[in-house]
Amino acid sequence: MSDRLYIFDTTLRDGEQSPGCSMNIEEKMRVAHSLATLGVDIIEAGFPIASPGDFEAVHRIALEVEGPRIAGLARATQKDIERAGEAVKPAGDRARIHTFIATSPIHMEAKLRMTPDQVVERAVEAVKLARSLAPEVEFSAEDAGRSEMDFLCRIVEATIAAGARIINVPDTVGYMTPDEFGARIGELMTRVPNSDQAIFSVHCHNDLGLAVANSLAAVENGARQVECTINGLGERAGNAALEEMVMILRTRSDRYDIETNIDTTKIVPTSKLVSQITGMPIQPNKAIVGANAFAHESGIHQDGVLKHQKTYEIMTPESVGWNTNRMVLGKHSGRAALTARYKALGVTLEGEKLATVFERFKILADKKKDIFDEDLMVILSGDSEVELERVKLVSLHAASGTRDTPIAAVELDIEGEIHSATAQGDGPVDAAFQAIKSLVEPKGKLLLYSVNAITAGTDAQGEVTVRLQDGDRIVNGQGSDTDIVVASAKALIAALNKLPNMHAKEVHAQYSGV
Ligand code: KIV
Ligand code: ZN
Repeated sequence: MSDRLYIFDTTLRDGEQSPGCSMNIEEKMRVAHSLATLGVDIIEAGFPIASPGDFEAVHRIALEVEGPRIAGLARATQKDIERAGEAVKPAGDRARIHTFIATSPIHMEAKLRMTPDQVVERAVEAVKLARSLAPEVEFSAEDAGRSEMDFLCRIVEATIAAGARIINVPDTVGYMTPDEFGARIGELMTRVPNSDQAIFSVHCHNDLGLAVANSLAAVENGARQVECTINGLGERAGNAALEEMVMILRTRSDRYDIETNIDTTKIVPTSKLVSQITGMPIQPNKAIVGANAFAHESGIHQDGVLKHQKTYEIMTPESVGWNTNRMVLGKHSGRAALTARYKALGVTLEGEKLATVFERFKILADKKKDIFDEDLMVILSGDSEVELERVKLVSLHAASGTRDTPIAAVELDIEGEIHSATAQGDGPVDAAFQAIKSLVEPKGKLLLYSVNAITAGTDAQGEVTVRLQDGDRIVNGQGSDTDIVVASAKALIAALNKLPNMHAKEVHAQYSGV
């Protein structure tokens, strides 16, 4: 009989803490549904006390997303815990409060300014309060990797006695090495007298590139919950990547007789969705989900794979959801075929949503011969943004050439009124950006502009990510189109739409930057 490992996904909480990765509620809902389809056991949906938006996202996920347990994060304070309890309540018996306090000497002294005794007392009170508000409580000893072992044993024993049923041991700063972290988990589980009453969990950061290796070492030593994120998103260098953790256990089942509930064929679609929504591109050589993860370039490798796939492939691309089949859908395809293909991708479309998506599909099929699954996910992602758009692109004309100064003319619908502008730039994209920015306020500072071809061929859809900063707010926008200038304009507008108080620039009904 193999053991079971619980996958706790924190893409929506720790992942969202990656600089520039903030998501709006609709985006979080899409990610949460996709995580449920992927088969994660627990979704950490957010940090409810952080903002009303965070609270609402956790609350809606708890209300609408079926399947996984829904966790809300809370510091070990009454306010945090009560707010988290209220947010996760709609999940009923699947609701979890995840409360934490730091336990390392440096955190207790410099950050909390509390003695170890006070920290234990606070942790116990927090767990007891959380236990009165939710059926399941997880306790995390923040910076456990750098905490003293005797103290860690003491606080773990006390919090289990207070009612925590999941004990999480975070390597908050990514300092541990696999052998010491594994040993730490093993020691905790043997030394803490009531350890059999809890599931031991780990939460590893990737500052030294060891998050997955450390999590694996913990599993070898008895941990049965791993906290991870899609594409390894998370604070600083990120968290353990879910896709890597799951595929190690599956591919090396000869070594690890441990199962997860993950439907591995949903890994790539989920990874792409998260990348599109957060605007965080996936590096091409990223394990499992990078565009080159299954690409064989050298002649020797290609020859080997053609003769026998296993010569150079330890897992199949299909097993993680890389779909090499071309879509046969085209402009003559009907709703039934489209609905069926989306269903295969784990998305159910009905009613008005289906009508909108179908209309977008037809527009794309007119411009593009081959429609790939990735195209369908892009069409889908445009779907819910519509209601949130204060600014919409009405038209764009850009001209450039080796002898001409690039110029762009745009028409924008800003809260129901049409505004137009023309501007010159260093290239057609720059000209389009100048024209758009001349019509709105605030404009934000451009931090990142990146272009990706989502599918192959010169008629591929280009996907553009734009990151803007306005004060301390950083937002991302994505746009895709077969025309890269149009994709760029859409991305900029999507980002502008996320800036609070974004509005039409007063005075100029007509502006010319030329
Ligand atoms: O890294 C960390 O310690 C955390 C905790 C809140 C679990 O994210
Ligand atoms: Zn963390």
